[in-house]
Amino acid sequence: MSVQPLDTKTVTALVHDATAAPSMHNAQPWRFRFSRDSSTFHVRSDLGRAMPHSDPDTRALHLGCGAALFNLRVAAVHAGWEPATHLLPDPADPELLATVRLTEPARPDSALASLYPAIYRRHTSRYPFAETEIPASVQAALADAARREGAQLIFPGAWHVQLLLDLVHDAEGRDAVDPGRAEDLARWTRIGTDIADTATDGVPEYAFGPSKRDGKAPVRDFAGRRRVAGRSAAIFEKSPHLALLGTTNDRPEDWLRAGQAMERVLLLATLEGLATSLTSHALEWTDLRWVARDPQSAIGYVSMVLRLGYGPEGPETSRRPVRDVLDIE
Ligand SMILES: Cc1cc2nc3c(=O)[nH]c(=O)nc-3n(C[C@H](O)[C@H](O)[C@H](O)COP(=O)(O)O)c2cc1C
Repeated sequence: MSVQPLDTKTVTALVHDATAAPSMHNAQPWRFRFSRDSSTFHVRSDLGRAMPHSDPDTRALHLGCGAALFNLRVAAVHAGWEPATHLLPDPADPELLATVRLTEPARPDSALASLYPAIYRRHTSRYPFAETEIPASVQAALADAARREGAQLIFPGAWHVQLLLDLVHDAEGRDAVDPGRAEDLARWTRIGTDIADTATDGVPEYAFGPSKRDGKAPVRDFAGRRRVAGRSAAIFEKSPHLALLGTTNDRPEDWLRAGQAMERVLLLATLEGLATSLTSHALEWTDLRWVARDPQSAIGYVSMVLRLGYGPEGPETSRRPVRDVLDIE
């Protein structure tokens, strides 16, 4: 793999790869600055895209930015660079989430580079999945992927899955009568084909998936009570395959690690032929989030509930143009 020069085209391509990452409600709460002198990316949060009601402590924002940071690392390795990454390098500047200095690699990280093709194949799928079991070897590889990023991934047993489903149900009930969360959702959903086809952020109606006629999969209904023309209904799986991702502590650096781990798990799952979706409903309520953990596991704090399975891929959703999120100096 030859090292490419860091011209504007290369820097832009790396940020394009980074921004294919998932973010809550596709808000894309990130900014990038590239300093040519030091060959360093500065990854910053964009608090104008935070969700004051659904994510008041900006944990979800950090998860999405962590996922973008992970894509940036994968893309850099794929392009032949070593991404020397430093989380939260300046305590006086908490919006500076990470620096990534590109250096010549001593030994390329082939495990990271191999994930590159999944960056543009991974999409959130809000469709029904087959009930087919996920092989133990695949589960072990996904858990290992999370561990490599300093997080834990567990596949909860039947009682715990039922508990998680109950918590999501509880959260859905609360969300339905919470004007603040409805406001966040309305700001970030795009209903109506014109707006859905042209918006460069938010969740477009074509990505909502069918409404749930039956089944237990915890899939957020982005339409809420709003009507979406031509939307079908479907029966979802009765026994969804859920995985819990979490960390021992609950500080911004843990959220960034969890975000990187989440993306590493999602990319590997994609390469393994799995469809993936995320469910943060229950975790957006502090009391429900606490109950979601398995007290016997090493996870102190749950960061994300993942739903994995064999089923249709989700559609690609838009991202803002790189020129809107990148400064080069
Ligand atoms: C922190 C976080 C929370 C999310 N929560 C949910 C959720 O509860 N339900 C859901 O369907 N998608 C959820 N998502 C997925 C986003 O909606 C999705 O990433 C975004 O719309 C972009 O689409 P894509 O993943 O297909 O690229 C979440 C993503 C992140 C990073």
